Amino acid sequence: MTMPARKEDKMVDVSVYRRDFPVLSKEMNGKPVIYLDSGASAQKPQAVIDAMTNVLNNHYSNIHRGLYNFSQVNTEQYEAVRGKIAAFISAASENEIVFTKNTTEAINLVAESWGRTFLKEGDEIIITGMEHHANIVPWQLLETRIGVKLKVIPVLDNGELDLQGFEALLGDKTKMVAFVHTSNALGTINPVQQVIATVKAYNPDILTLVDGSQGVVHGPVDVRELGCDFFAFTGHKLYGPNGVGVLWGRYDILDTMPPYQGGGDMIETVSFSGTTFKAPPARFEAGTPAIVEVIGLGAAIDYVQAIGMHNIAAYEKELLDYAMTALNAVDGLTFYGQSQQKAGIISFTADWAHPSDIAMILDQQGVAIRTGHHCCMPLMERFGVDATARASFGLYTNRADIEAFVDALTKAKEMLG
Ligand SMILES: Cc1ncc(COP(=O)(O)O)c(C=O)c1O
Repeated sequence: MTMPARKEDKMVDVSVYRRDFPVLSKEMNGKPVIYLDSGASAQKPQAVIDAMTNVLNNHYSNIHRGLYNFSQVNTEQYEAVRGKIAAFISAASENEIVFTKNTTEAINLVAESWGRTFLKEGDEIIITGMEHHANIVPWQLLETRIGVKLKVIPVLDNGELDLQGFEALLGDKTKMVAFVHTSNALGTINPVQQVIATVKAYNPDILTLVDGSQGVVHGPVDVRELGCDFFAFTGHKLYGPNGVGVLWGRYDILDTMPPYQGGGDMIETVSFSGTTFKAPPARFEAGTPAIVEVIGLGAAIDYVQAIGMHNIAAYEKELLDYAMTALNAVDGLTFYGQSQQKAGIISFTADWAHPSDIAMILDQQGVAIRTGHHCCMPLMERFGVDATARASFGLYTNRADIEAFVDALTKAKEMLG
């Protein structure tokens, strides 16, 4: 395994780290794999695989309740990840870190627990037109259940948010502004701090939730600097395992929220005459959690922090510029999302074939891209398409991957065009 670069090394070529990702040396359809679907789920470095295997091989057990050594070691390792995550996103305390299954569950937790408790009919929630379904549907469920109203910030042609349109949506009834940090379908990095400052200047009592699923992967995040109240992300896009996600919430808000689910581990006492609940974060973690996965996520965070999130962001930006120039060689492409601030996510259609036909030809050449609505159907509708093709980068993506992708696309055009 390569030695991680020191944090202060600027513009390090992070693609050297690809040796740490065993899958990248494998073949797909008899061709070296060119993995350009990290936005959907990232590959895992050996360090994550080892951390998880180590638990399973050496001291697997349930956590929190065992008085024997294995359970105590596991409990310590599991709880230590809370502190790691708090430091990673600059949370005030590890008690603000709630483990969930994924981003989707984190947002549902807020909608169900906070939303059902504090919202009433007619209250308004603002989201954006570029949300993943995970940040639309939980709020729509509240529309049907308690009659709240969803308002949507429009998306401009270049894939940026219409910030003027946004200000016009704020009103007396606004209770929550929930929006995506970095769009999985456009790559747009939203001006999160600015949006939150606008909300709080309008009314500091309006809460904000940031869907950080992509944002936390493509650059550094400091939740206190952002000024948000909730921040959600998922482990599997951050080079960690699937089955684990994080909800960060300001402690004073989490403390007012009732349990999301009931069961073991989240109670203080249970009796048939009444049950009392633990303080956050345990209050929101009913049942046996994803022990091995949480420990794997801790290893993933160690891994990316050793490289430095600033370095990953700078590297990706350089690679994005390289890819956009290289893609000029292919005729007939339309790109969606050309914002000033953009992560390594390229969405496009071709006037010579449907995205799924392109993806099938690319697959035969060992190139993995994603096609479809990317769980952003309203955004697809906004741009008048049913699907786009999407190439998304990880810290291991390199120029050779981009060149292979462009060659494969050129071949697809010859075959389909
Ligand atoms: C921006 C964004 N939000 C939410 C999600 C949902 O993540 P998960 O399925 O892990 O809950 C994704 C995953 O694609 C995403 O990209």
